[in-house]
Amino acid sequence: MDPRRKEYLSTEVHYTEESLRIGEHYVMHEWERPLIRRMVENLKITSTDHVLEIGFGLGISATLLQQFRPVTHTIVEPHPQVLEQARQWQGERNGVHLRQGYWQQLGSDSTHFTAIFFDPFCDDMAAVDDENISFLEFASRTLLAEDGRLAMFCIHPFLPLDYQRAMFAHYRQVEIGVVQVEPRDTADPTDKWSGRMISVVLYK
Ligand SMILES: C[S@@+](CC[C@H](N)C(=O)[O-])C[C@H]1O[C@@H](n2cnc3c(N)ncnc32)[C@H](O)[C@@H]1O
Repeated sequence: MDPRRKEYLSTEVHYTEESLRIGEHYVMHEWERPLIRRMVENLKITSTDHVLEIGFGLGISATLLQQFRPVTHTIVEPHPQVLEQARQWQGERNGVHLRQGYWQQLGSDSTHFTAIFFDPFCDDMAAVDDENISFLEFASRTLLAEDGRLAMFCIHPFLPLDYQRAMFAHYRQVEIGVVQVEPRDTADPTDKWSGRMISVVLYK
C-alpha cells in the first residue's frame, strides 16, 4: 500500500478464523498457509538471523518465523488495528520489535537484516508490480546485509520479465519453487493457473 493513501489507516479491520478483511478487501486468507509455510522454509532461518518482516496480517508467517528463534524479528505494519493484534501476539516473545509504518518509510538506519519476509498488501493492481519491484531494489541496496536473502511470492507460477530484470540486476541468485494452494471463500486469484503459485528467494 502506498503511504499516501491515508484512508487505509482508518479503514475498519475484520478478523475471522479464516481471513483478514480491511474495508471491502480481503487482505489475507487462512488457505494461504501452505504458501507461507513454504516461503518460510525456503528462507532457512537460523538462530543467528536478524529478520525483517513486512506486513503482520494474520500473523501466520510471524509465528512460523519465530519457530526458528532468530536473534531479532522486526515487523513493520502500518494499520493500527493490525498492529494491536501484533502486540497481543508478541506477548513475552524475545527479540520481537514492532514498528508502526510502511516499508516505504524505512530509512537508512534500517540496515543489515540477514533475512526478509515480504508480504504486504496493495489493492491497486496497477501499482502492485511497481511497489514490489521498488522493494526488491531497496532491500538489496539498503536493508540487506551481504549474503542476506529475501522471500516473496507471485500469484501465478512464473516470473514476469520486469521482475526477472530487477532480480538479476540486484541479486546473485534466484530460487523459485511451485506451491499448490486451494483458494476458498472468495474469488480465486489463481483460477487461470489451478492454484499454482511460486515462492521466490533472492540472495544478495
Ligand atoms: C497479506 S497481509 C500479511 C500476511 C502475513 N504474512 C501472514 O502470514 O498472516 C499484508 C499486511 O501488510 C500490511 N501492509 C500493507 N501495506 C504495507 C506496506 N507498504 N508496508 C508494510 N506493511 C504493509 C497490511 O496492513 C497487512 O497487515
